[in-house]
Amino acid sequence: MSADTPTPPSTPPSTPSSEPSPPSESAEPRTEFVRLLRSQRVWDTELPDFDPAVAPAEPLPLFERWFAGAVAAGQTEPHTMSLATADADGLPDVRTVMLHGADEEGWHFASHAGSRKGRHLASRPYAALGFYWPAQGRQIRVRGPVTVAPPEVARADLRARSTGALASALVGRQSEVLDSYEELERASDAAWDRARREPDAPTPSWTVYVLDPDEVEFFQGDARRRHVRLTYRRANHPTWRRELLWP
Ligand SMILES: Cc1cc2nc3c(=O)[nH]c(=O)nc-3n(C[C@H](O)[C@H](O)[C@H](O)COP(=O)(O)O)c2cc1C
Repeated sequence: MSADTPTPPSTPPSTPSSEPSPPSESAEPRTEFVRLLRSQRVWDTELPDFDPAVAPAEPLPLFERWFAGAVAAGQTEPHTMSLATADADGLPDVRTVMLHGADEEGWHFASHAGSRKGRHLASRPYAALGFYWPAQGRQIRVRGPVTVAPPEVARADLRARSTGALASALVGRQSEVLDSYEELERASDAAWDRARREPDAPTPSWTVYVLDPDEVEFFQGDARRRHVRLTYRRANHPTWRRELLWP
C-alpha cells in the first residue's frame, strides 16, 4: 500500500452484549476535553468593520490591504495558509504552507515536487488556499488552477531565504516514510554542511507553484453573526464579478 492510500476504517472487535463494558479510562479526560472545548470563544474581540460597497474591483489589492491589517493587528504568522489539494481520484488533503508572494500572476508557494501535495498537483493542477486571521475575525479563501514556475524562480526563491531553508530543500524526500529519526539527523547535518559551503547547490525537487485564482472570498466575522462574505469570481478575464454570500 502506498503512503497515499487511505487506510480502510478498521472494524472494532465485537464485544458480546452479555459482558459488561470495561470501565472507560478515557471518561475523565474526555469530559475535560469537552469542558475545555466548550469554554473556547470565537470573535471574542473588537472586530473591524468591512464595507463591501467600497471594496476594490479586484481581489489582490484587498488581499494586500487585509494582510497589512493582520500584521498591524499583531496576527501571528499571517503568511501561513492551508493548502488543499486532491489526488487523482479526487480524495482531498490539506496542510499548512508559507505564502511566498501574491501578485498579478497569482498566489505563490513552494514545496517539493515529489511530496504528496506535489504529486497531487502534478495529476490535478488545481488547489485552494485558506487564511484565518483571528486577531480580526477574518478569513480568505482562494481557489484556482496551479502552474509550476520555471526552475530559476525556485532557485531565486531559495537564494532569497535562509541557509536553513536551503538545507531543508536539500534534504528533500518530503512525505516519504522515514525509517528512523537518526536517518533524518544524518541527512540534515549533511544538508546544512552543504548549504553553508555551496549556497547555490541545486535542489531539483524544490518547486515554486503559482495559483491563479478564479475565485477569492473575503469573510469578515461579526459578533452578532452577521458575517460579511464578499466573493470575487472571474467573469471575463481580467474582469471580476463581486457578490455577497449568505453567511
Ligand atoms: C507553519 C508551517 C509552515 C510550513 N510551510 C511549508 C512550506 O512552505 N512548504 C512545504 O513544503 N511544507 C511546509 N510545511 C510543512 C507542511 O505542512 C507539510 O507537513 C509538508 O509540506 C508535507 O505535506 P504533504 O505530505 O501533504 O506534501 C509547513 C508547516 C507548518 C506548520
